[in-house]
Amino acid sequence: MLLPIYLYGHPVLRAETEEITPDYPDLQKLIADMWETMYNSEGVGLAAPQIGKSIRLIVIDGSVLADEFPECKDSKMVLINPELDVIEDMEPVSRAEGCLSIPGVSENVKRVEHVRLNWLDENFVEHEKDFFGFLARIIQHECDHLEQTVYTDHISPIRKQLIRSKLNNISKGKVRCDYRTKAPSK
Ligand code: NI
Repeated sequence: MLLPIYLYGHPVLRAETEEITPDYPDLQKLIADMWETMYNSEGVGLAAPQIGKSIRLIVIDGSVLADEFPECKDSKMVLINPELDVIEDMEPVSRAEGCLSIPGVSENVKRVEHVRLNWLDENFVEHEKDFFGFLARIIQHECDHLEQTVYTDHISPIRKQLIRSKLNNISKGKVRCDYRTKAPSK
C-alpha cells in the first residue's frame, strides 16, 4: 500500500522517535508499505517519520546509484533502532542531497562519509558494520530523520535564505509532486 509522504514543516518530522520492539503490531506490513512507497517515489531511503510514524525504522536501497557510487551496490536494508557513529577519520565531503519530504529542492551538504552502524534487521537480528562514501551519506541522512533533523538544517544560513520561499511553499502544500504527500495543513 502506498503511503503519503509527510512534507517539510509537518510536526511529525520534528517529533521524538521511539524504539521498536518485536511485538510492534503489523511491522512486516509496515516495512512492505515503506518499500513500496520509497520505490514509487524513486527515493533511495525512507524513514518512518516521513510516513507519519514516530518510530526508529528506516528502509534504504541505494542500488540504483551503483554506477556512480559502487559502494551503493546491493545496499538494500531495513534498519530497526539504528545507532550511528560518524567516524571522523577523513575530511568531510560536500555533495548534493535531496529528500522525499522536500520535493524540488537539492542542496550540498558537508558530511564525513564514514559511519559505524549498529542496527537490527527486519528479523530483529543484530548487525554492526562500517559504511563509506555515498552509502554512509544516505545512512546519515536517514538516521537524521530519527533525530528530528532534515538535511536543510545542515546548510549555510545564506543557502537557507535562498530556499526559504520554496520551503515555505512546501510547508503550505504548494508543491508539484509525482507521489502522494501530506502537507502540515492537511
Ligand atoms: Ni530525507
